[in-house]
Amino acid sequence: MRRRFFITGTDTEVGKTFVTVLLLEALKQRGLTTLGLKPLAAGCEQHHDQWRNDDALQLQAAMTENLPYEQVNPVALPAAIAPHLAAAEAGRRLTVSRLAGLVRGAMLTPADVTLVEGAGGWLVPLNERETLANLVQELNCPVILVVGVRLGCLNHALLTAQAVAAAGLPLAGWVANCIDPDAARIEDNIATLKQRLPAPCLGVVPNALDRTPVDLVQYLDIDLLLN
Ligand SMILES: Nc1ncnc2c1ncn2[C@@H]1O[C@H](COP(=O)(O)OP(=O)(O)O)[C@@H](O)[C@H]1O
Ligand SMILES: [Mg+2]
Repeated sequence: MRRRFFITGTDTEVGKTFVTVLLLEALKQRGLTTLGLKPLAAGCEQHHDQWRNDDALQLQAAMTENLPYEQVNPVALPAAIAPHLAAAEAGRRLTVSRLAGLVRGAMLTPADVTLVEGAGGWLVPLNERETLANLVQELNCPVILVVGVRLGCLNHALLTAQAVAAAGLPLAGWVANCIDPDAARIEDNIATLKQRLPAPCLGVVPNALDRTPVDLVQYLDIDLLLN
């Protein structure tokens, strides 16, 4: 099996990394080999003279295969701001062709399933012309949408699904991630999305920072993704 999926979200900080780690754990429990990539990260800390992004470190720890950090996260921009601005601040320029080449390079390491986490939401600009959506088009990668369940998420989720379809890409599934335990009408919001999003709901992940990925895998139905 050689499958790959791009993980997008309704926004930044909605649980893309959290859910990607769960998906990697679920795939591992199925006996599948995995890669988790974060080709572009804005917001890094220095570890021994190297810039390291926390998302990329989490993916690197959760995937089954061994890849050097530079392949997991080849573009590590220090500033935690919009990627094209972080790139300019670092004296660099982002392009779809270069990012796609870096992802393809990492994927030369064989794995049953590769999950590629985006940065921010679907239409994040890379330069004056291209967006992250263009990278997903170039990679021709099915998309998984992480919905951070809170007020406003219906509009963000439906807009994102529409934009994925407009890009000509399949939405393989979506995950309801309950990031806000105090949100009103959580069940009703999820029911609304189940009715309206054109892809299966792969799971409803509860708010559970104190629980390990191994505990939370039960909330995902990975079969819906693989079949
Ligand atoms: N289901 C959840 N329960 C508790 N905390 C969560 C959950 N999902 C995400 N978080 C927390 O919310 C924050 C943002 O999640 P993260 O996965 O980093 O978002 P993104 O990758 O979309 O920016 C992190 O601190 C993460 O641990
Ligand atoms: Mg993340």
